[in-house]
Amino acid sequence: MKLVHTIADLREALAPHRSPAFVPTMGNLHAGHLDLVRQAQPLGDVTVSSIFVNRLQFGPNEDFDTYPRTLQTDCARLEEAGCDIVFAPPEKELYPEPQVYKVQPPSDLADILEGHFRPGFFIGVCTVVMKLFQCVFSDAKGPRYALFGKKDYQQLMIIRRMVQQFAMPVQVIAGETQRAPDGLALSSRNGYLSETERAEAVQLNLTLRALARDALAAAGSLPARREALEAQAMRSLAVRGWKPDYLTVRRRSDLQVPRAEDALSPQSLVVLGAARLGNTRLIDNLEI
Ligand code: PAF
Repeated sequence: MKLVHTIADLREALAPHRSPAFVPTMGNLHAGHLDLVRQAQPLGDVTVSSIFVNRLQFGPNEDFDTYPRTLQTDCARLEEAGCDIVFAPPEKELYPEPQVYKVQPPSDLADILEGHFRPGFFIGVCTVVMKLFQCVFSDAKGPRYALFGKKDYQQLMIIRRMVQQFAMPVQVIAGETQRAPDGLALSSRNGYLSETERAEAVQLNLTLRALARDALAAAGSLPARREALEAQAMRSLAVRGWKPDYLTVRRRSDLQVPRAEDALSPQSLVVLGAARLGNTRLIDNLEI
């Protein structure tokens, strides 16, 4: 496996290849990332991963400074998972000057849910993903693949639409959320949890499951009952000491609130949630 730090070295390492399969990450890798790398391997003729903690997608009070930087361990894991090239640029390489050109995703998709609680988050994500795609894919001659986990459901959807709207020659592929045996979605931020918090953390998933059951049971009356069901789910986490941002039932297709016909058609809904446990903000979702 090659580790490169500059765009020039990345392009040189990619030169003999036609068809990169790319897994962008911010490092501090867990089994979910490695699963994406394994899924990437049979797709292209070279598997590339990036490790870059992207300042643009962090708010002023978020964890950019404390986000774990674990390059050595990450590289060992990526090599074991079969990655061929790791691109780990220093900040000055990707942002040699302030990044004043940015990708502005549409408000109906990017200013709701995560975007509502993390203003500017998806501008930062889209901008860096667009730039990373330029670094990895610009000289490719064959099909290009990019893999993203479903745990960041809204991110996946926004990137899919960005690729489509800009006619980028990239196939976006989704990886299933990987979970700990108790059901907690794997996340780089789980490492922030204390032992007690870790035991409690699965409640986000359990509460989403309960909300999913209630939403399915409501069927055609979901539009009338949705807000009450969501409020009940938020309360059940709040009484356990969580600070929920949102727990909500949405249409899978565009993350808008479901109408009766959506609620009645199979596999058309997703429940999504974000909540703070102590100082750690966790997110999760379930397609239902
Ligand atoms: O999901 C992530 O880890 C990040 O948002 C991504 C896609 C690597 C962009 O920085």
